[in-house]
Amino acid sequence: MNAPPTAQAKALAALAAAMPEGTLLTADGDVERYSRDWTGDHYGRPLAVARPRTVEDVSLLMRHCSAGGIQVVPQGGLTGLVGAAVASHPAGEVVVSLERMNRVRSVNSIDFAMVVEAGCILEDAKKQAEAADCILPITFGAQGSCRIGGNVATNAGGFNVLRYGMTRDLVLGLEVVLADGRVWNGLKTLRKDNSGYDLKQIFIGSEGTLGIITAAALKVFPKPTQVETALVGVESVEKAMELYARARRECSDLLTAFELILRGGIEIAINSPGKLADPLSQPYPVYVLIEASAGGRVDLRSLLEGFLTDAGDIVLDGVVAASRAQGEKLWLLREMMVEWQGRGGRYLRTDVSVPISSLASFVSEAIEALGESHPEALPVTYGHVGDGNIHLNVVPPEHMGPDAVETLFHATEKIIFDVIDRHGGSISAEHGIGKVKQQAFLERADPVALDLAGRIKDALDPSNILSAGRILAARSISGNG
Ligand code: FAD
Ligand code: LAC
Ligand code: ZN
Repeated sequence: MNAPPTAQAKALAALAAAMPEGTLLTADGDVERYSRDWTGDHYGRPLAVARPRTVEDVSLLMRHCSAGGIQVVPQGGLTGLVGAAVASHPAGEVVVSLERMNRVRSVNSIDFAMVVEAGCILEDAKKQAEAADCILPITFGAQGSCRIGGNVATNAGGFNVLRYGMTRDLVLGLEVVLADGRVWNGLKTLRKDNSGYDLKQIFIGSEGTLGIITAAALKVFPKPTQVETALVGVESVEKAMELYARARRECSDLLTAFELILRGGIEIAINSPGKLADPLSQPYPVYVLIEASAGGRVDLRSLLEGFLTDAGDIVLDGVVAASRAQGEKLWLLREMMVEWQGRGGRYLRTDVSVPISSLASFVSEAIEALGESHPEALPVTYGHVGDGNIHLNVVPPEHMGPDAVETLFHATEKIIFDVIDRHGGSISAEHGIGKVKQQAFLERADPVALDLAGRIKDALDPSNILSAGRILAARSISGNG
């Protein structure tokens, strides 16, 4: 005889009956591709995968999930790096994939705003902005896979933050379905709006814990008619940061990217299967990828070349891309390095920030401490140093066993975070907290901030069904945390 259905099984059956046909997937073969993230480190088979087509579908889904106590986790392109988007609650979770809500609802080149559904792939949204002679400036390696809802939910950063800000700075309005199924329509494209609390801010960077973002109104900008890219070699991170300080002033704030890569990263890229050429005539300890962009009336090339010539006391060698295609080749070094740094295996990812003025000291202190305690491990250092944001990753030696790798990750992360603490930095500059950084976050969080965060969570998700156990520790359902 079959056992009587559990309360969860009954609630799931009621959900399946209520949702439009084809919205809920449950077969193993169907849910598999929603079960593992880009890193490959996180796997969780969901109870089911909901694929709503409309905001009404999401609302219906959440009404049923909150009534039936079904745990839910929203999912975009699964490129998040903190293990938050795959199912992981002990009682199981329904993944809500926004992939079928992928329309660009509008692009307005007078408002310089676009309204995009949460499941739209970032690159597709960028293309539609460009078709209206504008740019959506969020730019990074995962843009061909990540989705707008994921970008907003993680407050994504990337290469162009120093000119255009984080995703938070680009959000004009949001449409969000709450845990109880109510829809908050905050999709305004106003530039100025001081009427009451700015509610969108609590959903940006909330990593799926406070509501399901279904659409976003985003700022776009005039499409630059000139983009210049240069790669230069310098002696040290200190010199790179000196160059940055000068570039900010001398390039009239036209810089759009200032990315640092240590020689080890360049070697990873040139030894990757893409076999990219070593970009300069000889190796240098530190490289900087610089991009500037402008409209028609500025002689951008002369500006950048003149700046680099004047910085001859810092720049040891360099190349200014002669064409967009050559510029893209320089960016490929950055992309290949990210993709191949782990040699196809696991590695420790960090995503830290310090005041820009402390960045060089942070890097040298952290690398020295890692070298003293774990000379067998390979540190890979690169990042958005114009924002004080560094990815100092640790690659284990080949053939190290899984337990030893775990121990190495734990020890080296602690070393890096100790240096971060000394510099008053953040353990998460852009990737968020999710599950991976939760313990380190909770250990450092201000108690008042944690109390307020818990109250916000309880107010918006009183049954604790949304992405439970991400950012904040799993909460009891009693309500007062
Ligand atoms: P997912 O991974 O699917 O989800 C991420 C989080 O958002 C989860 O907590 C999920 O529950 C939540 N979420 C997703 N959709 C919604 C929604 N509609 N409503 C509510 N919550 C939702 N990040 C940077 O900031 N800067 C970088 O430079 C950068 N470079 C990267 C390069 C590579 C090669 C890779 C793989 C990742 C990179 N990332 C970077 C990390 C990642 O791409 C971003 O965090 C991205 O914003 C995640 O989007 P996603 O759609 O893949 O989200
Ligand atoms: C990058 C990601 C890893 O900067 O944040 O490439
Ligand atoms: Zn980054």
